[in-house]
Order: sequence, then structure tokens, then C-alpha cells
Amino acid sequence: MDTTPFYVFLFVHLSSLILGFGSVLVTDLYGLLWLRGRVSFPQVTKVSGVTARFIWVGWGGMVAAGIPLILLKGMVDDLMIVKLFLVAVIGVNGVLLHLLHKRVEHYKEGEDVPPVLMFRLTLSLLVSQLAWWGALLIGFLHRHVQSVISWPDTPWLACALALASVLLLWAGGEAAMKRWVQA
Ligand code: HEM
Repeated sequence: MDTTPFYVFLFVHLSSLILGFGSVLVTDLYGLLWLRGRVSFPQVTKVSGVTARFIWVGWGGMVAAGIPLILLKGMVDDLMIVKLFLVAVIGVNGVLLHLLHKRVEHYKEGEDVPPVLMFRLTLSLLVSQLAWWGALLIGFLHRHVQSVISWPDTPWLACALALASVLLLWAGGEAAMKRWVQA
């Protein structure tokens, strides 16, 4: 590990983290400001239309620099499997968020966005935050606490359970929203 190439890729990895995660935080802070009535919905969609590109570039940079980092490290431990799962979740969730964004970007100030779309947006933003913070924490632990972490014992099961929980929450939320709109 601690060789010059490793540090070069780590630098690219961290620079991409600043760009990608920084843009995620800007987008989500705008969302929070909108919830508190400080900015309009069109402002939020306008900002997220711009930051989305930076998020993708940052995420792509993290993956591109992460692969040589893993090769130089020479092993994938249990916690790294969880991290890679979270990275994949960020990617898939990002595509879904992009599609959702396309559906809500034409709403003007004062127009009601359907509750089911608001639910999907909220869930997607929650998943994005959890996955980014999770990957960040695991990266930090590997680098600064212990290089090899053989935990959890069954990483694939942990990932499957996490995925099943999100899918259940999604299905439950959609059903609840439909009932609420019909009532
Ligand atoms: C959203 C995506 C990612 C985030 C937020 C993230 C975050 C981090 C962080 C915070 C560090 C510690 C840097 C330091 O303190 O010096 C790190 C290191 C590292 N990352 Fe990532 N990373 C991501 C994606 C990836 C991917 C896709 C790979 C591999 C394909 C990867 C492999 C590594 C490796 C090998 C290290 C060195 C530490 C170690 O695990 O031994 N990362 N990452």
C-alpha cells in the first residue's frame, strides 16, 4: 500500500469525493431550505439540474481511482464488500433520481407536485445520504483505523437485507400514497 502510486490515486479519490459529495450536500441543503420555505421549488430543481453533472463526475472519479487503489491494496475484505454495495446503490439511485428530476422539473412555483413523486424524491434523497455517508465512513475506517476489517461476517446478507428494507419502504410508501390520494 503506502507507495507513491497509491497516494496519487488516493489524491484523485479524495478530490473526486470533494466534488461529488460536496455537490450532493449543496443539492440536499437546497431541498432543506425549500422545506423551510426559504427557496422556491423551481430554484431547487434548477440547482439540482446543475449539481447532478458534478455528482456524476465525482462518483465516476471515485470509482476510476478506487479500482487501482483496491488493486494496489490487493484485497477486498468484508466491509469493502459493503462499501462497494453502497457505491452501486449511489449509482442506481442516481439514475432513478435523474428520471424523477425529469418528471418534476417543469412544475412551477405554487403548483402542487403529486404526493407520490414527493415521496419518491424524499426516499431517494434519504437513500443517497445514507449510502454516501456509509461509503465515506467505511473509507475513513479502512484508512485510519484498521486496513483490513473482517466484519460483518455475512456481508452479502447484510447488503441483501439493506436492499430489501429499502424496497419494502418504497412499496409500503407507494401503497400508502395511493390510498391517501384516493381517500
Ligand atoms: C461514493 C463512493 C466512495 C466514497 C464516498 C469513498 C470514500 C473513501 C474515503 C473517505 C477514503 C479514505 C481516504 C483517506 O482518508 O485518506 C477512501 C479510501 C479508499 N477507497 Fe474509497 N470511496 C468510494 C468509492 C470507492 C470505490 C468504488 C473503491 C474501489 C473500487 C474504493 C476503494 C478505496 C480504497 C482501496 C481506499 C484506501 C483505504 C482502504 O480501503 O484500504 N472507494 N474511500
